[in-house]
Amino acid sequence: MAERPYIVGNWKMNGTRSMLSEARAIDRASQRLMKVEVALAPPFTLIHAVHKEVQQIGVGAQDCHHMEDGAFTGDVSAAMVLDAGAKFVILGHSERRQNHGETDALVKAKAETALGAGLRIILCCGESEELRDAGNAENFVTSQLKASLPEIAANAAEVLTIAYEPIWAIGTGRTPTAEDIGSMHRAIRSLAVDLFGEESGGAVRILYGGSVKPDNTLELLAADEVGGALVGGASLTAESFLGIVLAAADLPD
Ligand code: PGA
Repeated sequence: MAERPYIVGNWKMNGTRSMLSEARAIDRASQRLMKVEVALAPPFTLIHAVHKEVQQIGVGAQDCHHMEDGAFTGDVSAAMVLDAGAKFVILGHSERRQNHGETDALVKAKAETALGAGLRIILCCGESEELRDAGNAENFVTSQLKASLPEIAANAAEVLTIAYEPIWAIGTGRTPTAEDIGSMHRAIRSLAVDLFGEESGGAVRILYGGSVKPDNTLELLAADEVGGALVGGASLTAESFLGIVLAAADLPD
């Protein structure tokens, strides 16, 4: 792995201020684990509080609106999460695509707005179990990415991370084999190179997500072209999340 592994915790719809102590503990320990880049994406309501608590780790949002501002009751803009302390936003997570009907075109519009506001993005992709079983996973994921990725004029690797998260592995305890992950990540890498050029596309980080736990981190992160992990359930306590960060720190340089 060329870059430092990037380990991002996605708290989803979990967390009130009582969880700030977990963020603090994750941050303190990460200060001693400089081989790993660590970030948390808490719910909107905690972004500012987590941002104020931490010194080392990155803070991001889990979504933002595709419009800059306006009459969108209950929605949150890219500028708002930036103002609250977020440096990045996760976009196109399968839970947003499934539960909120987010299309590739909408994810792309959100990505353009987020980049325009000065946020970095983590753009998610991933296939259903049916598509995996039918042998169509790579075709589906590369098409999904082609339709969801924004055009990026500058150095794509500085503002874009891609997260491959097979839907059937999220929250289920099941994971693909290291071979399957490697093969998917190679396909994503070659798409990134096509879209953003050899140097920039070659440096875009590609995270794996879906049932990452302390005891499978080493194996999953050792797969080809895996630059880190997007972690849901196991990011909710400092103990389990730091288990993952520690395992990532053990990866050979
Ligand atoms: P999980 O979620 O780690 O709980 O499987 C991953 C994700 O949805 O980002």
